Amino acid sequence: MTAALRAHAIIFDNLIMIPSQSSFQAIPFVDLAWQHRSIQAKILAIVEAALAQGNYVLGQPVAEFESAFAAACETAHGVGVGCGTDAIALGLRACGICEGDEVILPANTFVATLIGILRAGATPVFVDCDPETALLDLAAAECAITRKTRAIVPVHLYGQMVSPTGLLDLAKRYDLIIFEDAAQAHFGRKRRLSIWFDWPSSSLQLLSQQKLRRTR
Ligand SMILES: Cc1ncc(COP(=O)(O)O)c(C=O)c1O
Repeated sequence: MTAALRAHAIIFDNLIMIPSQSSFQAIPFVDLAWQHRSIQAKILAIVEAALAQGNYVLGQPVAEFESAFAAACETAHGVGVGCGTDAIALGLRACGICEGDEVILPANTFVATLIGILRAGATPVFVDCDPETALLDLAAAECAITRKTRAIVPVHLYGQMVSPTGLLDLAKRYDLIIFEDAAQAHFGRKRRLSIWFDWPSSSLQLLSQQKLRRTR
């Protein structure tokens, strides 16, 4: 196998491939079954209680989760919604964002950030990322601000946060709403209004597709 082919084979289909002398050894990227075993009894008891109560959609279990998650985030409210895209669209609308408004987002993000902004009716404006962190470049964001800019959506990724002080300073100077996409950064600090979600490689792994929007 050529060196170029080998490089492409390293990360493939949720597996990390480690080249050995004659073949590749597959190491699973995540082992959800292994993680599940340590909390299995607790989860099954909660699922059984929800089934016994007939609470399949929303109801008391979701209300309890919303309160517990909000408390863990040291915030007043948490609202479960259908998916992360919904959380962004509904959250932006709740902030008063509408058609004609421009919303800044980083070029390096998951497509949900873009679709959420479009579904809120706003015009997305992509800006470049810091080559060191791959997160939104605040200087590039400042250059993209126009009279129509109403909000900025930083996306926290890879265990890093876009500088909270830099963001607050920018938002203050241009009177912008900060709406953080924290789908991959649960329990990061100094957030204002954030979204959280569950996906196998995200920082919070849940079994359902319940999304949560956190408010302050
Ligand atoms: C950065 C980011 N924002 C938002 C989302 C939410 O996406 P979805 O609408 O699929 O839940 C995701 C999911 O992968 C994400 O990675």
